[in-house]
Parts: sequence; structure tokens; C-alpha cells
Amino acid sequence: MSGKVLVVGSLNMDLVVKTARHPKIGETILGGRFATFPGGKGANQAVAAARLGATVKMIGRVGKDAFGDELLNNAKKDGIDTSQVKFDDQEATGIALITVDEEGRNTIVVASGANFGLTSQDVHEASDSFNAADVLVTQLENPMESIEASINLAAKNGMRVVLNPAPAQQLDGNLLSKIDFLIPNEHEVLQVVGATDLESAIDQLFELGVKNLIITMGEKGVMAITSTNRLHVPAYHVKAIDTVAAGDAFVGAFSAGLAEGMSTETAIRFGNAAAAISVTRPGAQPSLPTRREVDLFIAKNQN
Ligand code: RIB
Repeated sequence: MSGKVLVVGSLNMDLVVKTARHPKIGETILGGRFATFPGGKGANQAVAAARLGATVKMIGRVGKDAFGDELLNNAKKDGIDTSQVKFDDQEATGIALITVDEEGRNTIVVASGANFGLTSQDVHEASDSFNAADVLVTQLENPMESIEASINLAAKNGMRVVLNPAPAQQLDGNLLSKIDFLIPNEHEVLQVVGATDLESAIDQLFELGVKNLIITMGEKGVMAITSTNRLHVPAYHVKAIDTVAAGDAFVGAFSAGLAEGMSTETAIRFGNAAAAISVTRPGAQPSLPTRREVDLFIAKNQN
């Protein structure tokens, strides 16, 4: 049974250079191949969920330019409903400058462009989309007013709310209290509440009303925490060549699993499998696996 996922988020064109190592401040180094890949945390999570069988709609903004057209066409090829992705008159499509080193580790700088033109009015104009979906997925690559409007509409419509707080910033309790699944990595979880250690970040998040906290820790796996329970789900071991969008693969797959009716634990294993496959391939959206690939991977790698 396919679940319905609504993604409010960013669309970027990723400009990627492979390098032997990352440059130091003030240093110029010669890199390897240059490539462009469709990316943006919102679009990556939408594509991840769609390839795994979810019915996906996206709300966002691109510029009136070649990158914007290409990103929309790519999303449509994956069956995503892009009728609520608007063309921005003022700003260019968002881009991300990315370097990926020999161990697959990355650095990313985003020029948000049109993503930062998304308004609460855009979200309200798409309000019908909120009572038509099971799960809202959003991140922090758009203005806070659009994210807050989405979370409020989702809560009002009884949707489950998944927030991937990336790039991280401090969030207020009013917003956090409406989140069903907060999915940060181990650095972002500290930044969201301005904490210096993990245990006090966890305590503060539950005091502020977060219902489930799912901390992604790369090759160390995932920690799922509720107010009464903790569960560690190990990662699958693979040879990583490019970790760009691994977190997005997890969030998109987890949300698709949730919308489809999986338990939290099963959705985490599903997310871990999607992320593991994604790091073995280059690029953001091209690295995201299909349902068949994930099901086969899980069957072969029972852990
Ligand atoms: O999470 C990876 C994504 O972050 C990239 O695709 C890039 O566009 C940035 O949004």
C-alpha cells in the first residue's frame, strides 16, 4: 500500500568536484572531475520517497532558468507532483558547491536563491495538499515562515510531521512541540537547542515536546529515542564513495515507510538500507535507490 508524502523544501543544482582531499583555508588545489547533479535536501527527500513507492507532492521554488527546468523535469520523471513548485521571478535556482574527497566525505556551500523566496502565502495557497497526505517532510533550507506555516497546517490536518533540521539552527519550543519525528545528525541535535553535550540536548528536546528523536550517526547507525525508550539500529556496512544525500536517502525512505504503515523500527531499517546504497554511488538524486533495490539489499543483509 503506497502512502502519501508531502515535502516542503529546497531544490538545488549540485556543482560537484571530486578531490583527493579538501582544501585548507586560503589554499588552491587541483581537483578531479566536475559534474552537476540534481539535489537540494527537499527534492532529494522527495525523490527518495517516490522511488520507494510513496505518492509524493512537493512545495517549493525554483528560478526561471535552465537549472530550474532541469530540476522540475527530473522530479516529474520520478512521478513527483510539482504543481506547487513555483517559478521565482527575482532569484535564480538554488545551487550547492560541493567537494567530495577520496573517502566519500563532503563539504557543501548552498546559495539558496529561489528557495529563500518561499513564503507562508505559497504554503497556504497549497493548503489542499495538506489534507491529502499522511506525512509532512520538511528541512531548514527555506525561510522559517514557510516551514512554520507547513508544520502548523500539517498539525491541524492530523498529518505526521517529520523535520530534518538541516542546515541546523536553534529552534523554538512552539515549533518543536509539533514535531512527531525530529531527524538530526549527531552535530545538528546539539545546534537545535544550543547544547554542548548529547544527553542535555536529548533532555531539552523532550522537555520542549518533541515526540520521537531519531539521530543519524553515519556508519555508527541510528539512535531512536522516545520519552520512555531508546533503541540503537546499526548501519549496514558498505564501501562509501560519496556520502552526499545519505541523510536525505534516510529521511525520504523513513517517511515513505511511515506513510505506508511501517513501525518506527522497520522504517529506520528501511531508511538505513536506502542510505547505505546511496553512499556507494555518486551524486545526490542519481544515488537514490528504487524499492526493488532496497528490498533486495535488506533481504541479502539481515542484521
Ligand atoms: O543533503 C545534500 C544536499 O544538501 C545537496 O544535494 C545540496 O543541494 C544541499 O541541499
